[in-house]
Amino acid sequence: MAAEPGSPPPSAYAGSMVCKTCHPDVWSEFYKNPHFRSIASGKEEPKNTGCEGCHGPAAAHVKAHGGKATIISFPQLTPKQTIDACLRCHANTLSRANIHSSQHTRNGVACTSCHSVHKAATPKYLLAKAEPALCYGCHTNVRADFSMPFKHRVNEGFMKCTDCHNPHGSFAPTWRMADRPSLVHQAPANEEACLKCHTDKRGPFAFEHPPVRVEGCEMCHSPHGSTNSRLLRRPVVFTLCLECHNGAGTFGRTLSGVPSLSRTHNMLDPKYQNCTNCHVRIHGSNSDPLFLR
Ligand code: HEC
Ligand code: HEC
Ligand code: HEC
Ligand code: HEC
Ligand code: HEC
Ligand code: HEC
Ligand code: HEC
Ligand code: HEC
Ligand code: HEC
Ligand code: HEC
Repeated sequence: MAAEPGSPPPSAYAGSMVCKTCHPDVWSEFYKNPHFRSIASGKEEPKNTGCEGCHGPAAAHVKAHGGKATIISFPQLTPKQTIDACLRCHANTLSRANIHSSQHTRNGVACTSCHSVHKAATPKYLLAKAEPALCYGCHTNVRADFSMPFKHRVNEGFMKCTDCHNPHGSFAPTWRMADRPSLVHQAPANEEACLKCHTDKRGPFAFEHPPVRVEGCEMCHSPHGSTNSRLLRRPVVFTLCLECHNGAGTFGRTLSGVPSLSRTHNMLDPKYQNCTNCHVRIHGSNSDPLFLR
């Protein structure tokens, strides 16, 4: 749009006070917003202060008595432009270090899909909706996971999606050999997010069970919910164990005549079917290499 003769240069600032005249609804709520602090302090440069910190220099907009063409209007921006506008101030943090390659960014889910600056449902973090409704809005299929008989109590409000996920993107832990969705939180010290709460599984143990670290908890557990107790991926524990402990087809088959890896394990004897009845320290043990205690 060509500037009117005599209008201020597009780089001139008007200050936030003048916006009140024409946008009283936005202004009257803004004192609660963390972005208000830059106005209150009066110490920031104009480009980092109040309304114009996000909407850009607005002298021309004021002179023109408004209009979308003279101001940064977020709904008109591409997701990338929105992300860049917010990251001008919010890039310098670990929690968003990988935001440019997160699944959300790559699929056009920008900051304003989850955050609402002026109509936030939660004062903290300015979320457009509270969790988990925010996430279910797009991930409808995940709701069913948390309605299973065994589940983490997200729907009941005891936990949030973001206890395990970083919606801003994350890095796979470096120790992790298997692939994983990149939005799973990386807890401090480069470990599995689950260990933040399940600290007793952290180790290090004198005798580690390798899959706990190498493949990770999801090798055996469905993290959201499951029809099986203990959130296990399989209804019968031994089928889970035998995915790996198949002794190349011989484990436990003492009756077949093939030499077994373990003489004592006769899989036809029901006693041997519940592996964790005996191998009780399945996540690792400090006293027994076979996790028997
Ligand atoms: C942190 C960045 C940010 C700041 C600071 C900010 N805005 Fe906004 N504003 C937005 C975004 C983003 C939208 C688009 C709607 C949304 O996603 O919430 C918007 C939308 C608007 C709209 C369109 C109507 C509406 O309610 O959606 C107006 C008008 C507006 N802002 C005025 C202001 C005024 C006046 C101030 C200062 C009191 C201000 N904004 C401060 C980011 C900001
Ligand atoms: C003289 C009145 C007036 C003043 C002062 C004014 N605006 Fe506006 N503004 C308008 C009008 C009118 C519109 C167009 C509304 C529309 O088209 O829906 C508008 C639109 C906007 C929009 C775009 C809304 C959208 O739909 O995305 C933003 C953002 C905005 N103003 C921010 C500001 C900010 C920030 C200030 C203070 C620096 C400010 N305005 C000062 C009248 C004003
Ligand atoms: C001019 C710099 C600047 C821009 C641009 C900016 N912010 Fe902020 N934002 C801040 C500051 C400063 C705070 C307050 C931080 C604090 O007190 O820790 C803040 C706070 C927040 C918070 C609240 C954090 C909390 O702990 O509750 C959210 C969410 C947020 N901004 C989102 C956004 C989004 C989304 C955009 C883009 C539409 C944006 N910001 C653009 C400077 C900015
Ligand atoms: C997919 C949804 C989603 C997107 C996209 C998103 N956020 Fe967030 N953001 C959240 C949620 C949820 C929280 C609250 C996390 C919590 O409760 O621990 C949050 C927290 C924050 C916080 C406060 C805590 C912190 O990490 O510093 C800031 C600031 C923030 N987001 C800024 C942004 C900016 C800037 C963008 C875009 C570059 C963005 N967010 C994109 C969902 C999102
Ligand atoms: C505006 C829609 C939208 C919102 C809101 C949203 N997401 Fe997403 N999310 C997507 C899209 C699109 C993708 C990429 C495509 C896909 O994998 O479904 C994605 C991907 C993901 C992935 C990776 C999936 C995979 O297969 O690797 C996770 C995890 C995720 N989102 C969690 C969340 C959480 C947690 C929240 C709430 C804080 C949230 N999302 C909010 C749209 C959204
Ligand atoms: C207890 C931790 C935890 C919680 C809470 C959690 N997730 Fe997940 N989520 C994970 C893990 C771990 C994976 C990766 C699963 C895998 O590798 O098999 C995952 C995978 C996903 C995926 C991709 C695969 C799929 O099932 O579609 C999406 C999308 C997702 N989560 C969304 C969400 C949403 C939305 C919420 C909240 C309603 C949520 N998650 C809560 C740990 C969690
Ligand atoms: C924010 C804390 C938190 C995080 C993070 C967390 N959990 Fe949990 N987990 C719990 C709580 C609390 C329970 C107890 C069950 C309940 O809430 O009903 C539980 C229950 C479980 C159970 C079932 C225990 C039983 O006795 O039936 C398993 C298995 C489990 N979690 C695995 C995981 C895995 C795997 C992860 C990571 C993908 C994880 N948890 C992340 C808090 C957490
Ligand atoms: C090799 C498979 C396997 C892996 C990997 C694994 N688990 Fe388990 N986990 C099990 C089995 C089997 C049970 C049920 C034990 C029982 O019924 O006595 C269980 C039970 C649990 C329980 C409930 C009982 C208890 O001991 O507290 C929690 C919580 C749990 N696991 C968390 C985790 C976490 C967190 C991780 C990742 C650090 C993990 N698991 C990795 C197989 C595994
Ligand atoms: C993802 C593959 C995997 C799964 C599933 C798995 N394990 Fe293991 N397990 C291993 C590996 C690898 C070792 C280390 C073997 C070695 O060092 O020779 C091991 C070691 C063991 C050991 C110590 C004895 C030995 O050979 O070192 C026992 C006992 C054991 N597992 C029992 C179980 C039980 C019971 C289950 C089911 C709850 C199970 N495992 C599930 C991979 C797995
Ligand atoms: C009744 C108790 C008991 C049950 C149930 C049991 N084990 Fe064992 N397991 C042992 C004992 C004792 C040893 C050590 C002596 C031996 O090798 O027979 C052992 C050894 C092992 C070893 C290491 C030696 C080898 O043969 O490779 C593995 C692996 C193992 N068990 C896996 C399993 C799996 C998988 C299951 C479930 C299908 C299971 N165990 C069920 C008691 C049990």
